[in-house]
Amino acid sequence: MNRIYLDYNATTAVEPAVLDAMLPFFSTDFGNASSIHTFGQRARAAVENARDQVAALLHARSQEIVFTSGGTESDNQAIFGIVAATASPTKHIIISTIEHEAVLNACQALEKQGVAVTYLPVSVDGLVDLDELRKAIRPDTVLISIMHANNELGAVQPLAEIGRIAAEADLYFHTDAVQSARSSSRAARVYASFSSAATTSVASAPARKMSPALSVSAKPPNSRFYRLR
Ligand SMILES: Cc1ncc(COP(=O)(O)O)c(C=O)c1O
Repeated sequence: MNRIYLDYNATTAVEPAVLDAMLPFFSTDFGNASSIHTFGQRARAAVENARDQVAALLHARSQEIVFTSGGTESDNQAIFGIVAATASPTKHIIISTIEHEAVLNACQALEKQGVAVTYLPVSVDGLVDLDELRKAIRPDTVLISIMHANNELGAVQPLAEIGRIAAEADLYFHTDAVQSARSSSRAARVYASFSSAATTSVASAPARKMSPALSVSAKPPNSRFYRLR
């Protein structure tokens, strides 16, 4: 019997260009990027090159790109990090009901610590209602976290508009873009420069509160193509 694999959103084969770019670092060009010897320094240079390429893709600064082990770690880092960094007696987060468990579980853990969470429902098309989002904002809201492409529905949220709403309210905005971190051949080059398991997280620095925080996985792309900005 011929079996057809239909679970590409869960995982896919590594893109050949990614494999080609990574193979030297798995075989001949290995080195601990924290080591001071030549092998380590070469590995460090490759990591920094990848960081520069991701920064260029996101129109961010290289020092704003943090590589993590995957999507869950990036989501946790952004959500727990922003909540911890916000000094406010009460804190409120807005997410959608269709976030990945990585976001849902983080918010449920925060609820147990007294953080209020609004779960915005979505329409039959899987989209968040922007008026409902505006209405959900409270004086103690610290973060809006709405995913880009949904891992089950494929629904793509209007990130630019959500970002504008967050900016107008001077709120942090995080998006889980694990399913959609590929837009163009330019992005494909970024993929080619680091491991398929790597994930980047760009967390807003306090001085740039209105810039988006992004969790972007470098998983091999699925059918959704996305221009980040
Ligand atoms: C939308 C979304 N967020 C987060 C994750 C978690 O990513 P990871 O498995 O790299 O921790 C996934 C996994 O597929 C996902 O689809």
